[in-house]
Amino acid sequence: MDPSTSGLAQKLAEAGQSHLLQFWGELSPEAQTDLSLALQRMNFQEINGFFKNAMETSSSSKHEKMDARMEPVPREVLGSVTRDRGSLGDWELTGLQCISQSKVGALLLAGGQGTRLGVSYPKGMCDVGLPSHKTLFQIQAERILKLQQLAEQRHRTKCCVPWYIMTSGRTMESTKDFFARHNYFGLEKNNIIFFQQGMLPAMDYNGKIILESKGKLSMAPDGNGGLYRALGNDGIMEDMERRGIQFVHVYCVDNILVKVADPAFVGFCVQKEADCGAKVVEKTNPTEAVGVVCKVDGLYQVVEYSEITLATAEKRSADGRLMFNAGNVANHFFNFSFLKDVVQKYEPKLQHHVAQKKIPFVDTQGQLIKPDKPNGIKMEKFVFDIFQFAKTFVVYEVLREDEFSPLKNADTQDGKDTPTTARHALMSLHHRWVLNAGGHFIDENGRRVPAIPSLKDGTDLPIKCEISPLVSYGGEGLEELVKGREFHPTLTIDEHGVHELVKNGV
Ligand code: UTP
Repeated sequence: MDPSTSGLAQKLAEAGQSHLLQFWGELSPEAQTDLSLALQRMNFQEINGFFKNAMETSSSSKHEKMDARMEPVPREVLGSVTRDRGSLGDWELTGLQCISQSKVGALLLAGGQGTRLGVSYPKGMCDVGLPSHKTLFQIQAERILKLQQLAEQRHRTKCCVPWYIMTSGRTMESTKDFFARHNYFGLEKNNIIFFQQGMLPAMDYNGKIILESKGKLSMAPDGNGGLYRALGNDGIMEDMERRGIQFVHVYCVDNILVKVADPAFVGFCVQKEADCGAKVVEKTNPTEAVGVVCKVDGLYQVVEYSEITLATAEKRSADGRLMFNAGNVANHFFNFSFLKDVVQKYEPKLQHHVAQKKIPFVDTQGQLIKPDKPNGIKMEKFVFDIFQFAKTFVVYEVLREDEFSPLKNADTQDGKDTPTTARHALMSLHHRWVLNAGGHFIDENGRRVPAIPSLKDGTDLPIKCEISPLVSYGGEGLEELVKGREFHPTLTIDEHGVHELVKNGV
């Protein structure tokens, strides 16, 4: 197909993107067809508009003083697993009841590229080296299975937590294939619904789309806030409506500790009649690079650490905690009707954020260049951009060591958020579950290992201990298996029983 006769060249010229055809004559017929199809599908007017708005917002917001406009989360909208211990059981019962009535759906954000981790497959397929070698996807699937079982046992009725999985052009096929190969990890195939978020081209600072090779545009997913557009495009809201879903738990693929469809969180939000809720962990260090949930000009939003001054980050409340301490962990609750309003009414109002990146490109000579400093932007929406539209917004604070350990980076010595830190976080949580249920660990000399491991030899490696989610969702039901017993690590507890794998051995 000749671009000049098909109207494509004209369309590109009008959009100021003619350079995309610069290497047309050098492409094979197949590559020409691929490029032509990719370009035909694009709405350049819309993309140029996104670029203009995103650049304008990003440059103007830098000059505005965020600090003076911020207020912390008021106590009355905050639920906390430590400060409101007395209410936890009640919230959990409410959540379990909603789950037993099949009113709760889980929605996984798994469309990211995982560039920092640097694996060539979707992050959910990562095995972080647990004794079971389970992947993040399997751990989450088994938590859903267990939760359904807990709700069914309590309310003596069959129920289902449908699992909506958002992927992107880069992760869809491999994700679906992985689930099929693993027989959906024991879940019903029909209750796992895959859908795909949009992609946007990377652009240089002048709004020109970047070519990653002579015949291919540099494309990236449009951020985890691409969720709302994808929900509208792929018939997912209709699916939820058909199933009678009233509450949705949205979470990220990379948190190994995530409590999928957490009944206590859901129950808290339902009791508060919230449109939307955010789970947070306490930020304790003023310079920690985490966004905080707070009010800005009276509306809820997440303020990034780079947007505030150190003085504001260091402010403390009367109780000694940081004033802006609601650390966002991208773990949210939605009431279905609010989600529907977001998809239908509010999504188009959201602006893209600008992320400056080093984007490999072909230069005018056709050479592939890998820049060593940022040379362009990717445009992204964020899942939390819609907080501002909620009429009733609540915040739920949980313990970091129990619920949040994201996998972002590849393993390096002393690295942060790596496979090693994720593995250790899970094993140390399970270690505590065993101790709390009355079990003990003994070392190779038969001596009891202290509950708080000493820093012997400069190491503070956790006890090797892993409990299958099929056995326990949140530490419950372990007494009958471990109370009064002593175990040699590695201890694993799964649906087949309790196993000790002594060193070098079975
Ligand atoms: P991150 O922002 O950490 O991105 O995503 P990432 O893709 O995992 O990693 P990097 O930044 O490329 O190294 C947080 C969560 O949002 C999802 C991710 O899959 C992860 O669960 N996400 C991110 C999407 O679903 N879509 C996106 O476009 C971006």
